[in-house]
Amino acid sequence: MAVHIAEHPLIKHKLGLMRARNISTKDFRDLSSEVARLLTYEATKDLETEEVEIDGWAGPVTVERMKGKKITILPILRAGLGMMNGVIDLIPSAKVSVVGLYRNEETLEPVVYYEKMAGEMDKRIALILDPMLATGGTLIATIDMLKKAGCNSIRGLFHVAAPEGIKRVTDAHPDVDIYVAAVDERLNEKGYILPGLGDAGDKIFGTK
Ligand code: URA
Repeated sequence: MAVHIAEHPLIKHKLGLMRARNISTKDFRDLSSEVARLLTYEATKDLETEEVEIDGWAGPVTVERMKGKKITILPILRAGLGMMNGVIDLIPSAKVSVVGLYRNEETLEPVVYYEKMAGEMDKRIALILDPMLATGGTLIATIDMLKKAGCNSIRGLFHVAAPEGIKRVTDAHPDVDIYVAAVDERLNEKGYILPGLGDAGDKIFGTK
C-alpha cells in the first residue's frame, strides 16, 4: 500500500480553514467538497488514456481519452457523502456505490447496515470516500466488502488520517492506496483524531 500525502498548497490551505473551531456548516461542507475534488485530481494522476481520432474544427485531430477500468466512487455513510459532489464534479460518469456501518459497542467491531454496490465491480476502480481515517476499522471492513464484490483496484481518499489507522489498514490490505490531505498526530481515547477536524459528519450535516 502506498500512502500519498497531498503536497498541493491549495489542499493545505483549505484543510487549515476546516480546522477552525467555529467554522460554519456551509463553509465546512464547501471546503470538504473542494478538498475532495483536489484529492481526486491527485488520486487519478496515473490513470491510463488512449489516443483516438475525432473530427476537429480544422479536420481530423488526435485526442486522448480515459481508457480501461471505469470508476465507482464509494462514500462511507454518512460523512463520506460530504465528499461526493467534489469527486463527481471531476468524474461525472462515475457510478456510486454506498456502504453504511456502525460500531457494535460491546465487540467494538464494525457492523454493516447498508450496502449497495455498482455493477461489474471486477471491472472498476473504487475510490472510497471518508473524511476521517481514524482507527481504520470501518475502512478495513469496507475494503473487505469491495474485494468480496470482485473489486481488485481500490483507492481511499481522506481529509485527515491518524498514524494508528494507516498502520492497521496497511497491515490488513497492503494493496490499497491511500490519498490523504494530512496525517495528524494521534487518536484520543474516544477514537477522535488530534488535532483533526472534530466530528466530520456533524459538521457536514449541521448536527450535534
Ligand atoms: N470520525 C470523525 O468524524 N472524527 C474523528 O476525529 C474520527 C472519526
